[in-house]
Amino acid sequence: MEFLYKNSCLVKEDEISKTAAGLESYLVQLQQLTQTKSYDRPEGFINLTDDSELLEAVLKIKQEKISPALKYFILTGIGGSNLGAKAVYDALFGYFDLLQPQRYPKMMFADTADPEFLRRLKNLLTLTIEKPAEVIINIISKSGATLETIVNFEIIYEVLNKRFGEQAKNQIIVTTDFGSTLWQKAKEQTIAVLGVPEKVGGRYSVLSAVGLLPLASVGVNIEKLVQGALNMREQCLQINFEQNPALVSAVITFLHFKRGKTINNTFCFHPELEVLGKWYRQLMGESIGKETDLDGTTVNIGITPTVSVGSTDLHSVLQLYLGGPKDKFTTFVYANNSPINITSQQLDTNNVIAIPKNLVFPGLIKNLAGKSVTAITQAIYEGVKIAYQQKALPFVEVLLPEISEFALGEFLQFKMMEMIFLAKLLNVNAFDQPNVELYKNETRRLLNK
Ligand code: PA5
Repeated sequence: MEFLYKNSCLVKEDEISKTAAGLESYLVQLQQLTQTKSYDRPEGFINLTDDSELLEAVLKIKQEKISPALKYFILTGIGGSNLGAKAVYDALFGYFDLLQPQRYPKMMFADTADPEFLRRLKNLLTLTIEKPAEVIINIISKSGATLETIVNFEIIYEVLNKRFGEQAKNQIIVTTDFGSTLWQKAKEQTIAVLGVPEKVGGRYSVLSAVGLLPLASVGVNIEKLVQGALNMREQCLQINFEQNPALVSAVITFLHFKRGKTINNTFCFHPELEVLGKWYRQLMGESIGKETDLDGTTVNIGITPTVSVGSTDLHSVLQLYLGGPKDKFTTFVYANNSPINITSQQLDTNNVIAIPKNLVFPGLIKNLAGKSVTAITQAIYEGVKIAYQQKALPFVEVLLPEISEFALGEFLQFKMMEMIFLAKLLNVNAFDQPNVELYKNETRRLLNK
């Protein structure tokens, strides 16, 4: 993964350097934390990447529970308990599921308690499942008490239970905090359980069992994902900001926020990365959108995260971005995974998706015949960057060598570490979400009436 900022971020190098220096002691603390390999602090999520016991536990459950007959891995979880797995699954498989109806296993996500979705899912399971091994329900909830998750689980499980009786219990896997009530109840019923360290927060948990088990179960190479994250962790612990992409990204975001850029746009140039953008949206929204700072002063602070997709949104909101208020800071995410300048021999192998040499409508657009689609996308991407530069709009670029497990692992770790640096700079707690409780309490009150 490459992080490019020098010619486009519109912040001077000495300003970056000065602000980054303020985080030096925090970086030293994080370096020490990696030596302990512990999860005693919420920053302990950075230790997930070299936890061999975790990897073993996940692979053991996978071996015990996932059969070659598996068709549907149903993840019931919400927020930090499903967005990470969904981001990686979508990037590698999920976005293309409609095009590969016969590719199994597929991952399905039940997060919102949506009656219509549940009705159709129940129908699908009733009509298509022949034996228990074809379905796994992974109930993921750190607290073990999230309303939507429990509702979805109970409804989906009922279908399997009606069909296969007690045998269906073998198809449940619970992922929750070690020792939660859900943990205890699952243990009592000898249901398979994977633990999550209590201090690893939901939105920082993608590299724990929360993300690793679902991903491993549907064929994602989680060792590579974790290796990518570990590789990035080492870079993001560097004191020298020039070698630390998360530090630079946090500092630039912070300095732009101070200048009124209160919107942070993750602009992914591959539609299969949209959920990755949504994963980051939660990370930023919950980590730095805060009523009070670390000193207890009311600050009502935050940067509003948005997600855009290229090319789709060039034909939707780009007008606003280029012509509207200059209140946005953009991170472009682009994977440079196919050759741009291709030989005619490569074109003929079919590995390269290219425009035919003989067009049905020649002349509608000049110089199209024979060009690879990557060349087209690259031209669009470069065109957008030039437009941003002409309008003096600040941006940085994350270039992935390809959309692979390793690169996605790097990206996830980069962004999680960026967020804890940004929270430090803004003097807020990156790990709590006290205001979310408001809606939960009100909902509970209404349901208990
Ligand atoms: O980041 C967070 O803490 C939240 O988004 C939670 O992940 C979400 O509310 C789900 O919580 P739980 O995992 O306890 O079911």
